[in-house]
Amino acid sequence: MILPVYAYGQKVLKQKAKAITKDFEDLNILIDNMFDTMYNAQGVGLAAPQIGNSIRLFIIDTIQLEEEDSKEFIGMKQPFINPEILSEEGDFWKYEEGCLSIPKIRGDVERQKKITIKYQDQEFIEHTVSFEGINARVIQHEYDHIEGILFTEKLKPLKRKLIKKKLEKIKSGNIESDYRMKFPS
Ligand code: NI
Repeated sequence: MILPVYAYGQKVLKQKAKAITKDFEDLNILIDNMFDTMYNAQGVGLAAPQIGNSIRLFIIDTIQLEEEDSKEFIGMKQPFINPEILSEEGDFWKYEEGCLSIPKIRGDVERQKKITIKYQDQEFIEHTVSFEGINARVIQHEYDHIEGILFTEKLKPLKRKLIKKKLEKIKSGNIESDYRMKFPS
């Protein structure tokens, strides 16, 4: 089921999300709905606060970013439950990010190349894994969401100034989006 994506300005996007426990009701359905919602909006990642749920859960599918003729990049598709980034290392590198909650705005964000993250899978089994490059990048972006941080806060001051009006427009629901959104009322 496709859910509306909560837009910039919604309070839930600025909250630090809460951990969930094994008895969390209908978790598998929620995760399925998040994948439906993400694909419908042509995203590569989606965090639970973006569908109005302030819990520590996000999904990613970077397989969509694999290029047909190149074996250089291997994507991944999975949910991350109760994740905790244990370390970030390596050089900072720039990459143009976007966000389903902030349609039609993109900007360069600098993040470190490699991360190590501890998380639980859908069976609540714990894993500790390292990722780098695009996979790390998407995880870092989604992880920020459950910490209540948006990528626009990490843009250079000049760029932030340039998008200020556009952000206000999103906040007031005064934009067109290709998918259903829920604006602050
Ligand atoms: Ni986002």
